[in-house]
Amino acid sequence: MSQSFLFKPLSVGGLELRNRIVIAPMCQYSADEEGCMTDWHMIHLGHLALSGAALLTIEASAVEAEGRITYGDVGLYSDANEAAMARVLDSVRRWSDIPVAIQLAHAGRKASTEKPWLGGAQIPTDSIHGWQTVSASTLPFAQGQAPPQALDAKSMSDIRAAFAASAKRAARLGLDAIQIHCAHGYLLHQFLSPLANRRDDAYGGSLENRMRFPLEVFDAVRNAFPAAKPVTVRVSGTDWAPGGWTIEETVALSQALQARGCSAIHVSSGGLTPAQQIPLGPSYQVPLARAVKQAVQVPVIAVGLITEFEQAEAVISTGDADCIALARAILYDPRWPWHAAAHFGESVQAPDQYLRSQPRQFKQLFSPKPG
Ligand SMILES: Cc1cc2nc3c(=O)[nH]c(=O)nc-3n(C[C@H](O)[C@H](O)[C@H](O)COP(=O)(O)O)c2cc1C
Repeated sequence: MSQSFLFKPLSVGGLELRNRIVIAPMCQYSADEEGCMTDWHMIHLGHLALSGAALLTIEASAVEAEGRITYGDVGLYSDANEAAMARVLDSVRRWSDIPVAIQLAHAGRKASTEKPWLGGAQIPTDSIHGWQTVSASTLPFAQGQAPPQALDAKSMSDIRAAFAASAKRAARLGLDAIQIHCAHGYLLHQFLSPLANRRDDAYGGSLENRMRFPLEVFDAVRNAFPAAKPVTVRVSGTDWAPGGWTIEETVALSQALQARGCSAIHVSSGGLTPAQQIPLGPSYQVPLARAVKQAVQVPVIAVGLITEFEQAEAVISTGDADCIALARAILYDPRWPWHAAAHFGESVQAPDQYLRSQPRQFKQLFSPKPG
């Protein structure tokens, strides 16, 4: 019998989670230049699949080549991308039954940049590895950057179709859930935020207009993915900048998404403007998740500097969120959920090959595999 909140099972849009620990999407910038996963993804996702977390989310995967942040991003826009991902997933699934979600994304004006460990600067359109970016309006992310092209009706329709096509590929790959990337200043967030969206058509101005394109993309993905599987959305709860996207607007967006069949809201923040002032600290985004949680009935996921077991437990037990997501902490310690289970006297599934590693003092830690 589970005693801790962190290890209580939860159903998200029909997907059964064993506990409340989910692995956040993390770009690896290690795909080939056509957006295909490589052996690195097998290693990276392979070891996270053995972590004991309830859900593994594949990194931001671009729905078209120009939607990649860097030339090393994963894509899910071509048959080759799909085949490369199938190869990785086949291996992961051979050794782990962890449910796997994918984050579908378009970077908009934050595309065409160098890999972070090579400086992350914007790459000019006419350079190798660079391309023309697009956005809601022609405002660049940072001063001095090449301006994006404002999307016209035809290009917006193409991007909606690209999201749907990637969702169909995700369905063919047997992925368990889709998370649409509406956060961190990427394309859909660029439509939401008045700091990036200066349109004067039906997609700019009022909150209703700014939400229109992201909601259309949600509908397109929802329609393209099996109804029995969840489609969730990752939002930025605030831009942390004057005149930007707010938590009140995030709540309204979350309610609109819920009404359209969104299965969970994952609440992050920031990323839209270099002018952001983020009050960084443990659990700094949890109040944003709490505000959304109080306004919707679907599960809410909190993320951001959640690193300690009791801290994670408190996020769930207080009702601030239904799940916690881990990014850096689980890269640093891929057995974080094992250690959390040991801490709370709970159990996790371990691969047969590792059963002998169970520490003497935690005799119940490794649970038998379900029949
Ligand atoms: C290496 C790395 C890659 C990331 N890539 C993505 C991504 O693909 N999509 C996304 O929404 N967030 C991405 N993030 C943000 C994380 O998902 C997470 O929201 C953030 O790191 C805060 O959580 P943490 O404090 O547990 O790391 C990335 C973070 C890291 C460290």
